[in-house]
Amino acid sequence: MLINLEVNDKIRQKNIKRCREKGILLPTFKEMLNPSTVSDDIKDKLSKTGLWDVDPVNLYRITWHNEPKAKDGKFGDVNFIEVPREISGVKARIIALAGKWFPCGVHKVGATYACLAPALVTGNFDSVDQQAVWPSTGNYCRGGAYNSALLGCSSIAILPEEMSQERFNWLKTVAGEVIATPGCESNVKEIFDKCHELDAERGSHIVIFNQFEQFENYLWHYECTGQAMIDVCHKLGIKDEDVKAYVSATGSGGTLAAGDHLKKEYPGIKVVAAEALQCPTLLRNGFGGHRIEGIGDKHVPWIHNVRNTDMVVAIDDEDCMDVYRMFNEPEGKKYLAEKGVSQSDIDNLESYGISGVGNVLGAMKVAKYYEMDEDAVILTVLTDSSEMYTSRLKELEDQMGVCDRDDSIRIYYKALMGQNIANMAELNYYDRLRIHNLKYYTWVEQQGKTYEEINRQWYDKTYWEELPKTTAKIDELIEAFNTEIKSGK
Ligand SMILES: Cc1ncc(COP(=O)(O)O)c(C=O)c1O
Repeated sequence: MLINLEVNDKIRQKNIKRCREKGILLPTFKEMLNPSTVSDDIKDKLSKTGLWDVDPVNLYRITWHNEPKAKDGKFGDVNFIEVPREISGVKARIIALAGKWFPCGVHKVGATYACLAPALVTGNFDSVDQQAVWPSTGNYCRGGAYNSALLGCSSIAILPEEMSQERFNWLKTVAGEVIATPGCESNVKEIFDKCHELDAERGSHIVIFNQFEQFENYLWHYECTGQAMIDVCHKLGIKDEDVKAYVSATGSGGTLAAGDHLKKEYPGIKVVAAEALQCPTLLRNGFGGHRIEGIGDKHVPWIHNVRNTDMVVAIDDEDCMDVYRMFNEPEGKKYLAEKGVSQSDIDNLESYGISGVGNVLGAMKVAKYYEMDEDAVILTVLTDSSEMYTSRLKELEDQMGVCDRDDSIRIYYKALMGQNIANMAELNYYDRLRIHNLKYYTWVEQQGKTYEEINRQWYDKTYWEELPKTTAKIDELIEAFNTEIKSGK
């Protein structure tokens, strides 16, 4: 089984006792997918709780359906925005889920919950005596540290030293330990090395939830991100045949897994993996540092189902930083208004973090590549929001001054309207196999995966099919765990 659901009852009982003492209940996948089914008692508590509060009831806000409010929110439709054509410059509709309305402001909080919950309810993680380790280049350690705090267990966040200052500042308030590893965004090997070091030092005192290999990360996005996109398409009355592409930048490859779900619903859809042009690992087996925090880590994640990836698109990090700058500076917004962007769309600009901008630029390139018409719909994700990167804005301002009208004109025509079809590749069978084969060097040579399993990933059709079948089993385990918490035995 790709997800370990073997039960260790002794530890499981310890976890139940602790959750009972702390008044913690755990949401199921069913509830994350459809939170209207959550009990009235919990909804009532949520209506008095801030979105970012470190309160265990916020576990029930791990859903795309939160009312977009910082406090006292209830549940509603999936949060998304449609990128206006005055910004995209393409005919196709670009529709992006908005991660801003998750607790702690990032969609990866969902994937970390999906890692932690099965481990708690099976007793594969001891919430009393073990520390949860969250290695990440982006928001995964933020979500992991936050969820650990909600569950009252100790955590270690590991991230590269060059990540934005607000990430470190906030992490220090929730994580037990914060470890900075050498380098930037694309230095994942250094993170893996730190994990091995911790493992050797602390052994059974820690459990490492490595997002790059943890299939629970895949599963959460397959189920929740995938279904949220389908819900949006239904709400907007989009015809199935018009859903043409899904674009997701890949860090751990978790978010991309929504594409596997979408492919079942819309078999003609193109699943597009985006990465930074400065670190074009999928496109060119390339490497390098870049500034799109959270993605592009110089390897192919173990949980990336490469057989289902139809296209790779590389985005220039300079364009992402420029657009991020324009979206957040008064002159930039003023210029966009002149170009016809409505006030409500300008208000929405705060929903775009840097990788979110990258995803939208990727979607624009895909629309141009396939010469899509106005009925075509491209789905993508704004994984977090601009508030995660205010220090970057300050750095850009220190380097280049405030974004003025001339900058805005340049950015608008170069980074938005000027996106073209360079640095993209439609993948054939052997292109996909080349990318899949790259996994060997990271995972089999360095990280202890087997030759048999890497081949199963490619040749055994049942390998990936097995994963969604575990969702119901995880829900059963969560329900039984909650029942025992409530029964007070
Ligand atoms: C800001 C940001 N964007 C994109 C991603 C990529 O998501 P995934 O790891 O699911 O591929 C991450 C991952 O943490 C992230 O933090």
